[in-house]
Amino acid sequence: MSSPDGAPDEGNIVQALGHRRYVGGRWDEIGRLQFDYLLAEGLGPEQVLLDVGCGALRGGIHFIPFLNAGHYLGVEQEPLLVSAGLSQELPAALRDRKRPEIVISSEFEFERLSRRPDYAIAQSLFTHLTPDRIAQCLRNLRCFVDERPCRFYATFLEAETPVENPTSSNPREAFLYTRDEMERLGERTNWAAQYLGDWRHPRGQMMMVYTN
Ligand SMILES: C[S@@+](CC[C@H](N)C(=O)[O-])C[C@H]1O[C@@H](n2cnc3c(N)ncnc32)[C@H](O)[C@@H]1O
Repeated sequence: MSSPDGAPDEGNIVQALGHRRYVGGRWDEIGRLQFDYLLAEGLGPEQVLLDVGCGALRGGIHFIPFLNAGHYLGVEQEPLLVSAGLSQELPAALRDRKRPEIVISSEFEFERLSRRPDYAIAQSLFTHLTPDRIAQCLRNLRCFVDERPCRFYATFLEAETPVENPTSSNPREAFLYTRDEMERLGERTNWAAQYLGDWRHPRGQMMMVYTN
């Protein structure tokens, strides 16, 4: 289960665990939660949504039927998750009708998408990233949306005081940040950061929103 450099091969781990378990389980609950939350925050079918680290479409299976065709965008580093989501979780007729657009990338290459989003969400992505990688994601999205108003919702595991996280991003390790750290990361990358806090996540993740 490892690549030539000794790092575990995530594709093998996806296959061993199954795509639902790999992204953390509680499939129906956490999928529905994201959808209900963004609807309450004003998301409508005519808006364009970007799902950063969309995984196997745990949220996507709720967003895709709701949004207009072509209005669901995803970016994800693990191709096996995306193919499992598209082939096993989303009915083929719905996929053909709604045409979700998903870019496989680990470098937050949002410019590869054909549209700019009005809303974006990163559900349980920053919980696995170092501050540099979070900043890369925020910076690249800020450049991509440019003048178009965008609300970027991002969940995180909150610590009361700064903690020593692992030194490299890892999809199977938990990274904790303080509210202040999350706000500063946004400000450093030219977003206005607002702490929204508890959004009823079953594992206690908190919500930030970054606006331009
Ligand atoms: C805990 S899962 C959550 C997936 C999805 N947001 C959900 O709610 O089911 C985190 C996802 O982020 C993806 N990810 C981690 N680092 C990434 C990166 N640098 N670029 C794109 N995706 C990344 C992982 O492959 C995984 O699918």
